[in-house]
Amino acid sequence: MEAIFRKAGPLLGSLAVPGDKSISHRAAIVGALSSGLSTIDNYSTGADCASTVNVLRGLGVEIEGRDSLLVVHGIGGNGFDQPPGELDCGNSGTTMRLIAGAVAPYPVAVMLSGDRSLMKRPMGRVIVPLTLMGAELNASDKEGHPPLRVRGGGLHGIEYSPPVASAQVKSAVLLAGLGAEGQTTVNELAPTRDHTERMLRRSGVDVTTDGLKVTLQPGVPEALDISVPGDFSSAAFFIAAALMCPGSRVTVTGVGLNPSRTYLLDLLKRMGASVETQSAQVDDAKEPEGDITAEHGQLMAIEITAEDVTEAIDEITLVAMLATAAEGRTVITGARELRHKESDRIRGTVGGLRAMGALIEETSDGMVIEGPTGLNGARVSSRGDHRIAMMLAVAGMAAHGETIVDGWEWTNISYPGFAGEIDRLRGGP
Ligand code: S3P
Repeated sequence: MEAIFRKAGPLLGSLAVPGDKSISHRAAIVGALSSGLSTIDNYSTGADCASTVNVLRGLGVEIEGRDSLLVVHGIGGNGFDQPPGELDCGNSGTTMRLIAGAVAPYPVAVMLSGDRSLMKRPMGRVIVPLTLMGAELNASDKEGHPPLRVRGGGLHGIEYSPPVASAQVKSAVLLAGLGAEGQTTVNELAPTRDHTERMLRRSGVDVTTDGLKVTLQPGVPEALDISVPGDFSSAAFFIAAALMCPGSRVTVTGVGLNPSRTYLLDLLKRMGASVETQSAQVDDAKEPEGDITAEHGQLMAIEITAEDVTEAIDEITLVAMLATAAEGRTVITGARELRHKESDRIRGTVGGLRAMGALIEETSDGMVIEGPTGLNGARVSSRGDHRIAMMLAVAGMAAHGETIVDGWEWTNISYPGFAGEIDRLRGGP
């Protein structure tokens, strides 16, 4: 399926984006592990979070409702059912890695598979720590590609220092630690999103954070009653669209403003962008939430290092796109991890933007972009990656002529309805 974008006039008005994908996955999984009935409101409507619900149902967890309101009947330490066949995680790396951790304490044999993209993603990063904890895990090859087989039971806590900065790895280990004997500690290489820690704390689990060290005591979480804030990573496309299209001013309301997710705003401020947040006060265990307003203006090139990349991991493609409109040379280094996402995001960003006339070069661990260059419409591809599709759509709104994005259906992974919201904002407030 293709979608067509033309140069837009100003984008004006406000919108709310679907519930946060990362928080939704965790709410469903923690709800499933808890004792009692959990209610999750504003659950992500994307296909990835539907994959988590399907996999949990395959493990015998009763989940009522669909779309954005879920009631999860927790297993409360009683264990999962043995699934009759393999469990399909679709396109979702978060589903596969977090579920591997969640089932690891229980005496079930689970086979996790996924679509073509997911079957190429590295699972060695969860196989190593979960094996150290006492589970049996196997992948299809030495590189750790799925299908991922997990045979759980008899876990003991460990102290583990992952070789990659990854919230998915940290979360898999912590979820496994809930059902292990003794405490579990993860020493992070760099700070990553802390949604799992916050949610477990909120459900009464003893989780402490000391700098980069997270320590969890085993236990059964209490049921959750949670409303998921809007997804910052989805809001980021509208922020970028406002910055790219002259005369625009857009407010995204009810967005998650957890500081471990909003680092893009720091990068944008360094680029000279006009972005402001208004946040509601919340306690430490909850997720902060508020509004973000972005206004068009001239941008400046910046240097982006490995530390920046970790903290804005899902938004670096957008920064590269914005850099085409920024004055000077933007250099992005330390971004090799982007090659292991739903697609090789360095290749997809460079290929798509170059086809549109950007002066952008691929390096082994990043990109170099010279700006400002006007973009021209072109036929470009999502490469089966929701974030590449939406980034190129935003580029298309700032480009002369017509941009056709092939593989548009992949936007359903995190944001069904994205194109409709763009049309609405083009119509004004
Ligand atoms: C996620 C963590 C990040 C991110 C992904 C979602 C999560 O992946 O890119 O979109 O929900 O924990 P890594 O932890 O592998 O970097």
